[in-house]
Amino acid sequence: MQKEENLTRHTGPSTRSVHAGVDRHKPGHSITTPIVQSATYTFQNTGDLTDYMHSKIWNGDTNGREEYGRYGNPTVHAVEQKLATLDGGEDALLYASGMSAITNILLSSLPTNTHVIMTDDCYRRTRQFCNTFLKRLGIDTTVVPMGNYEAIEQAIDPKRTRFLISESPTNPYLRLVDFARLAEIGSKYRIRTLIDSTFGTPINQQPYLYGIDYVVHSGTKYLGGHHDILAGVVVGSKERISALRDAQGVLGALAAPHTAFLLERGLRTLALRIERQNTSALAISHFLEAHPKVKRVWYPGLASHPDHSLAVKQMSGFGGVISFELNADFETTGRFIDAVTIPYIAPSLGGVESLIEQPAIMSYYEMEPEDRAAIGIKDSLVRLAVGIEDTNDLIQDLKQALEKI
Ligand SMILES: Cc1ncc(COP(=O)(O)O)c(C=O)c1O
Repeated sequence: MQKEENLTRHTGPSTRSVHAGVDRHKPGHSITTPIVQSATYTFQNTGDLTDYMHSKIWNGDTNGREEYGRYGNPTVHAVEQKLATLDGGEDALLYASGMSAITNILLSSLPTNTHVIMTDDCYRRTRQFCNTFLKRLGIDTTVVPMGNYEAIEQAIDPKRTRFLISESPTNPYLRLVDFARLAEIGSKYRIRTLIDSTFGTPINQQPYLYGIDYVVHSGTKYLGGHHDILAGVVVGSKERISALRDAQGVLGALAAPHTAFLLERGLRTLALRIERQNTSALAISHFLEAHPKVKRVWYPGLASHPDHSLAVKQMSGFGGVISFELNADFETTGRFIDAVTIPYIAPSLGGVESLIEQPAIMSYYEMEPEDRAAIGIKDSLVRLAVGIEDTNDLIQDLKQALEKI
């Protein structure tokens, strides 16, 4: 036990990425975490079952065993432990996707006729969930501008407001919320705080350590890291995660054991991948900022970004996503993207392959150009999610594509 503690609590992020959550005394001595592909778990006899039920119900202790697939799985528990350790939390819960993490936390924690406050420039499906599904339950949402803490306090209805929700960094402008300030407002008004830390990763930031109650990630992105799984996770206190685990047993938004295995395997290289993605994205953002065909670059590692000083304060690296505007119209921006040869045109981010997209087409195509502009999505905006390819190859590729427009 002491050896496990040493490997996880007192070590750096790469050692934790590899070793946290891994049982070093597995049956058969496998070095990898086995995939326990089982929907149910057996009991020796009625006495065995009675002992288990007694311990679970009266002591809250499952004696390290499983009962039924919807209530837990050993492969899933192993990756949950790794995720909790990486984010500095007490416990973690895995879900089928990032969206199922967000929707299940809110659905299982919010009574009807309450209120949530959310910052703008957030993932459009989260906004859609709040404005439609929660609305039907009588739960209202107020959207406040990113970085305006007075607006957050003004929007609080002490009788009804239950959640403060933000992403950091946001999509696509990579805006940041001050974790310490948000946690302070949450504790002053006794309102729970939730940060979607997908773009940040547990390597670059740890909002839980600033007092944020729920830290959520789409595990589909950096955590999995290979564009081959969908998963979501929430990290928090033992008490809050236990309540969510009970709710998951009813709502059933589970990640499969094979997904948990792939996620745990991806996490072993998390620190290495993030280190490369941080370094590459910073170099690429400097290259883009100096290029005459680029109008503006949004990357928290640049001094020109509105939240750069906050980024330096609460992040140890600035992530792998860069958004930039070209000195070009809608069609020319598409031609630039078509001229790039290494990144794929695809939604998502955080994997080993670089991905590139024109948000006006990929995510907001159904909107009229004026409506897109009203929410800040310009026709010439490009989002680049940097992978782990060689930095210079990516820069040369962007350079030749810029020369073609
Ligand atoms: C910031 C953010 N949160 C949540 C999600 C949803 O995650 P998933 O696709 O795993 O459901 C996404 C997906 O793009 C995202 O970018």
